[in-house]
Amino acid sequence: MSSGLVNIAYLIAASLFIFGLKGLSHPRTAVRGNQLGALGMLLAIVITLVDQSIIGYEIIIAGVVIGGAIGAILAVRIQMTAMPELVALFNGFGGLASILVAGAALLEVPYLVGSGSVALNAQFSLSIFASGLIGAVTFWGSLVAFGKLQGKVNDGAVRYPADQLVKILLAIIALVFAYLMVIYPDSATPYWLMVAVASVLGILFVIPIGGADMPVVVALLNSFSGLAAAATGFVLFNTVLIVAGTLVGASGIILTIIMCKAMNRSLTNVLFGTFTVTEGGPSADEVYGGKVKSTSAEEVAMLLEGAKRVCVVPGYGMAVAQAQHAVRELFDLLEGNGTVVEFGVHPVAGRMPGHMNVLLAEADIPYERLKDMDEINPNFKQIDVTIIIGANDVVNPVARTDPDSPIAGMPILDVDYSKTVVVIKRSLSPGFAGIPNPLFAADNALMFFGDGKKAVEDMVKSLKDELG
Ligand code: TAP
Repeated sequence: MSSGLVNIAYLIAASLFIFGLKGLSHPRTAVRGNQLGALGMLLAIVITLVDQSIIGYEIIIAGVVIGGAIGAILAVRIQMTAMPELVALFNGFGGLASILVAGAALLEVPYLVGSGSVALNAQFSLSIFASGLIGAVTFWGSLVAFGKLQGKVNDGAVRYPADQLVKILLAIIALVFAYLMVIYPDSATPYWLMVAVASVLGILFVIPIGGADMPVVVALLNSFSGLAAAATGFVLFNTVLIVAGTLVGASGIILTIIMCKAMNRSLTNVLFGTFTVTEGGPSADEVYGGKVKSTSAEEVAMLLEGAKRVCVVPGYGMAVAQAQHAVRELFDLLEGNGTVVEFGVHPVAGRMPGHMNVLLAEADIPYERLKDMDEINPNFKQIDVTIIIGANDVVNPVARTDPDSPIAGMPILDVDYSKTVVVIKRSLSPGFAGIPNPLFAADNALMFFGDGKKAVEDMVKSLKDELG
């Protein structure tokens, strides 16, 4: 195949990746974005294989069919709440591919040099080093993240003595191997020893981080897997791999930063600190004692019948209860009664980026009713009833008032400014941050205790009775 044609195909593939990423930035265009990205990847892989003319079309088609079948089965069977685990595995396999491809290039050195496609210089050795180092950290780090998300590896923040020092030492040893790789560019031994050291580094990098912070770690490892792929692109002199890897690296780090900002935590705090619950804050008894008012489905239905504007705030509990379809029914009923219903979506509600958007989209809630925090916050004073379904930290006013609280400064949804707040949850237990929420004891708040799905279903039934 002529190099001009290959380059044009790569350019088209790279453009498809960029349009795909652009599409992924909004729920309405996300499916199309995903399809464009997948199409770009298919084009890039097929053109590369055809160009190299190493394998026949039958093998390419067999690979596409087998890979497509595995992907389709995983996509259909995986639970929405298990999506971060799947992404962790995908990242890990990306890292493993980089280790193996860089290792294979070393084995092929005599052939590559003989054919004139590679010069044994520092760039070649350092590209192989970067591929193996980042790939091994990504692979093993992702496996630990997967284990923590599945609850198979201790999901607490496991600190061990001198943990930072040990990691720095391992990084220095890896750099020594990089030096040896430059000196002995055709020897595979320093490479595989470096991969072993980087593997330990990957495990020790993720082990000390608490399970609840895994979504941030998975986003960061996603970025690493992209950087490893870009480095592999330099090993193979493959432009489209460099472009794709760089795009994944950049988008992964942007997502990581967005998540950290939304939690008002620095990346260093997530990676090297421990998310601590303050000892000195007020106890649950002090916050709630005698002030919490509980309500029933019938009472909420009466409130909703007369409401002109209602906001639904979903949180992690809605995902656990799988209440989204019941919420859709409530939405239809209220809209049918002339009530304007909006959804206030906090960027870190739930346990993964876009968690709430995905669930609400699954229930076919119109996208234009999903409001970002900045969009909905100025409107809460005009909202008659806010219904919170299994959200806690993202609506905790302590973030605004207590500088010592673990969520101090975290931007929250200002639900307490609405006329009435109905909170659906099973008990007064805290959320992820482990602190009491004074909203539950506020004068304008009513607690509807129960499982999210059952509570919304009961509300729907009572509202139907109310509306006749
Ligand atoms: P949380 O603060 O974790 O609160 C969830 C609440 O849901 C709990 O208080 C729980 O109360 C309730 N719940 C659980 N199961 C339920 C069920 N079946 N029915 C009804 N309620 C149920 O959730 P949030 O407000 O969504 O905040 C997310 C937290 O996770 C934030 O602190 C955020 O920083 C953190 N985090 C998020 C991410 C991303 S990317 N989203 C990543 C890392 C960390 P009961 O037990 O009383 O029912």
